[in-house]
Amino acid sequence: MQQEYRRLTEICQTIRQYTTAHPKIAVVLGSGLGGFVQQLRVHTELAFAQLPHVPTSTVPGHAGRLLFGSVGDTEIVLMQGRTHYYEGYSMQQVVRLIRALGMLGVEILLLTNAAGGINMQYHPGEFMLLSGQIASLVPSPLRGVNMEELGPRFPDMTNIYDDMLQKIALDAAHRLHITLHQGVYIQTAGPQYESPQEILMYRTWGADAVGMSTAAEAIAARHMGMRVCGISCISNLAAGLGSMPLSHSEVQQTADRSAADFARLLDALISDFSKTVQTK
Ligand code: HPA
Repeated sequence: MQQEYRRLTEICQTIRQYTTAHPKIAVVLGSGLGGFVQQLRVHTELAFAQLPHVPTSTVPGHAGRLLFGSVGDTEIVLMQGRTHYYEGYSMQQVVRLIRALGMLGVEILLLTNAAGGINMQYHPGEFMLLSGQIASLVPSPLRGVNMEELGPRFPDMTNIYDDMLQKIALDAAHRLHITLHQGVYIQTAGPQYESPQEILMYRTWGADAVGMSTAAEAIAARHMGMRVCGISCISNLAAGLGSMPLSHSEVQQTADRSAADFARLLDALISDFSKTVQTK
């Protein structure tokens, strides 16, 4: 057995010592979006540090906890905080916990993040549903010997973001009167924000929003056959498009302002997504 697969197995075994829950939906909360946790009735809480081989988050606004619980009638597992490539971890480390959750039976992965708006139609505080992504600026999480137990060597990435989940998300946002753009996310390695020249280049590539996470996680999840949905909170105009220099505190402040709408949207998505998975 490959060493990485053994690590994943050990994470699953450790989680199983704390809970027998079998959530079908996992949610990853991005920068400043951790407040959604208040919606969750938590029955099992694990710090990333309690899990073997799982890197811990070093970024303010990223708590680094795995929470099992329910939102309404739906059992979910929530990653409050994530680790990033720019923290010095390999992509294999960055996606490790997501893979373990897939091995535990998660079928739908809802990835959220804060992102800079490249598309001129987007305003800070609005949301973007990911219809596609550009991950070419960061290494693939699938690099290395393929884990055949998880998926194929050369997985197809035509529909990374599940069409049906996108439709459900758009319908939910419409019902809730929440603006939800649909666009392409580009992941950079970070940690520096982009130069204005890079942003102009990414726009010509077709990117609508930019961030430092998500795309690699989506690739790892699709490799395993999980269905993926992605939501960005547009926390700022991308570099060169606004009058202010970019800062992490601006990102967090905008996320805070959008917290109530974000919570309403996520609540609806979790409930609507749960209707598409088989319950045991
Ligand atoms: N660039 C990259 N990552 C980000 C940004 C940005 O403008 N905003 C929030 N995360």
